[in-house]
Amino acid sequence: MENKSAKSRWEEKTVRWLEKAPERKQTFTTLSGIEVERLYTEHEAREEWPGEFPYTRGIHPTMYRSRLWTMRQYAGFGSAKETNERFRYLLQQGQSGLSVAFDLPTQIGYDSDDPMAMGEVGKVGVAIDSLQDMEQLFAGIPLDQVSTSMTINAPAAILLAMVIAVGEKQGVRPEQLRGTIQNDILKEYIARGTYIFPPQPSMRLITDIFQYCAEHVPKWNTISISGYHIREAGSTAVQEVAFTLANGIQYVEAALEAGLEVDQFAPRLSFFFNAHNHFFEEIAKFRAARRLWAKIMKHRFHASNERSLQLRFHTQTGGSTLTAQQPDNNIVRVTLQALAAVLGGTQSLHTNARDEALALPTEESARIALRTQQIIAYESGVADTVDPLGGSHYIETLTDQIEQEAEALIKRIDELGGAVHAVEQGFMQREIRRVALETQRKIERGEEVVVGVNKFTLENETQPPLLRVNPAFAKEQIAALKELRATRNQEAVNQALARLKQAAAGTENVMPSILEAVKAYATVGEICNALRAVFGEYKPV
Ligand code: 3HC
Repeated sequence: MENKSAKSRWEEKTVRWLEKAPERKQTFTTLSGIEVERLYTEHEAREEWPGEFPYTRGIHPTMYRSRLWTMRQYAGFGSAKETNERFRYLLQQGQSGLSVAFDLPTQIGYDSDDPMAMGEVGKVGVAIDSLQDMEQLFAGIPLDQVSTSMTINAPAAILLAMVIAVGEKQGVRPEQLRGTIQNDILKEYIARGTYIFPPQPSMRLITDIFQYCAEHVPKWNTISISGYHIREAGSTAVQEVAFTLANGIQYVEAALEAGLEVDQFAPRLSFFFNAHNHFFEEIAKFRAARRLWAKIMKHRFHASNERSLQLRFHTQTGGSTLTAQQPDNNIVRVTLQALAAVLGGTQSLHTNARDEALALPTEESARIALRTQQIIAYESGVADTVDPLGGSHYIETLTDQIEQEAEALIKRIDELGGAVHAVEQGFMQREIRRVALETQRKIERGEEVVVGVNKFTLENETQPPLLRVNPAFAKEQIAALKELRATRNQEAVNQALARLKQAAAGTENVMPSILEAVKAYATVGEICNALRAVFGEYKPV
């Protein structure tokens, strides 16, 4: 009571103050629309410890005091050789993990010489047609020492098989491999679009990967359940948490239906979130997601291995917040967003480059992006204590509010029959579009300031130097592909593809036959076409 009267005393004084100094806005809200109070003087007391259930304060007792987050810059363009050079440059500059960006033909299961690939070969990521390209991608990079993330979804099983095959050629056993495949098809239907097959066969491919890796590649993170692209499509922070965890619930249910034990696969589920604007909401978002997932895994799925309860996630700073105008301003945006991710306890982080609203990052802008992480890690001091903002009235209250709102939204999705049904009904897509439209209108009305775009603009801007993919590259890639087809053992390819079709049409795990096809130098397009023949293709609602 004492605190309340003191606060009301202060508020009475403040109301008088407002006459002289009115506040900038009628109400202040986070990007999720949660009202921001003038002053926080208390929060609901909880006893929560880092490294202990429900992990709100972090999944490890010592967090970054023992090991910094992995600095893992998303990179890839043009040929496997060019991308290998960028990988080696970034590793030499101090990044601690790899993250492969594939071009769209690879992501959607077309070879570089497929008419559907025209104009996209090597454009937004590296062109990978066969194991031969993958060998070049990782040339000189020891796969038993560097963890590799791959942003690949519909053909994830194929690229995973390629990493296993390259590892074997390097003398690295599958059980030594560390890394992640994104392998999150639901968000592709919701927000990103690089799907191939319908939901049911896609879920089967995913659970086949869970089962195969649990047995043969135990250190591999089998999925990166992504909220990043949901947020990039325009969702709020609350929707980002709710839709991502709802997708996570669907994957766990699918794996259980496939006969897997929850503690057999759940420790290797991982997540991927956006670090967007509204600094404190983002920090609270990560803390709320950790607490919510721990409770879901414990109470809904009765997981007992504590690693099954720990939400481990990668963060990328918000690409959609980057502006083409005054690109140097993006260095400041990325710094704040990266700081939010670190204060939120991320395990791995990508910082966007200042020119990414315009083109692929140049070597210089990629270096500045990495240096941003290194300055936060080594100069700011924020990594030296666990969950530094824990206990803040504002952060704890916001964490509780986001958890409650996300939980209510997950409940609505449950009532629709779960994430797959919600996607098929277009529920998540509609909800995201509604918010995205509102946000765009606020920016156009100037209610939401974007520095350099709708306020503090410059008359004439000079464009920074941009990286362009060599246009002749596609021809070289196609020529190399034709050479491969002419020299490989075609009979072995045909037999492997026939076996794959048989496995896909049955109920056996398809990973062994995909691995055999990859080792015979069957291409991504050929393998995907074999699966298309059995599974068909997804037609959007
Ligand atoms: N105390 C004790 N142990 C610790 C520790 C601590 N403080 N910190 C870390 N460790 C241990 C971990 O437990 C782990 O050991 P384990 O494998 O036995 O559990 C080891 O150290 C490595 O730590 P992490 O696993 O936390 O770090 P990684 O970097 O290896 O993995 C991850 C992080 C989130 C789990 C993983 O899934 C990952 O790397 N994800 C990255 C995904 C990614 O890069 N995605 C990019 C997508 S780009 C995209 O889609 C956008 C485009 O479309 C625009």
